[in-house]
Amino acid sequence: MAVIKYTDKVLEHFKNPHNVGELENPDGAATVGSPACGDQVSVFLKVENDKIQDISFLSYGCASNIATGSIVTDLAKGLPVEDAKKLTWKDAVDKLGGLPPVKVHCSVLAVDGLRAAIQDYESKHLGISHERAVDESFLLDELKKVIHPGLGVNIIDAKLVKYLRFQGEGDEKPGLVEIEISLEETDPYRHNVLEEIHEHLEAIPQVQEIDAKVVEY
Ligand code: FES
Repeated sequence: MAVIKYTDKVLEHFKNPHNVGELENPDGAATVGSPACGDQVSVFLKVENDKIQDISFLSYGCASNIATGSIVTDLAKGLPVEDAKKLTWKDAVDKLGGLPPVKVHCSVLAVDGLRAAIQDYESKHLGISHERAVDESFLLDELKKVIHPGLGVNIIDAKLVKYLRFQGEGDEKPGLVEIEISLEETDPYRHNVLEEIHEHLEAIPQVQEIDAKVVEY
């Protein structure tokens, strides 16, 4: 079995994570799960004068889930909410000095938790609704959470998704997602990527069936 190598920084945050715990009466809170591995992270926020005055997290996952939760909350603490929204998984990975490719999705999960907690704050305190209809643009945004470990970018920006169609109410097969993804047969991460696509799409209640085709071009 391959041994996963972590940087010293990852190990430091894993062994002594910052900002762990639950905040009392948070202004925003959310729990998100990674369909890829079943791990979860919860994020809690206190906001004052549009700034993240305090933030904490709870992890129910792997070493990089804990380390990325620690670093993402460190990065977000004290930032204006608008700036915290712009933090990306790459910021977290850079700050940790890198993550093994197959663990990059853990950083996506931590950032997703932060964004979901901010959305919770915005809907509770600012009346901003984040509900979206499930359509192709929604699915494309969800698929941006699937990172190709070898390329280090999400499959949408890497232009690996060549075709996507979602059948909604009134269509012939409501809930069917048809997707074509370009992955070479020799791609060592082909299986990871396909699995993550399936798991992310299956986590959406409106998705009933997935027809994924691998194409090579
Ligand atoms: Fe699941 Fe890291 S968050 S493997």
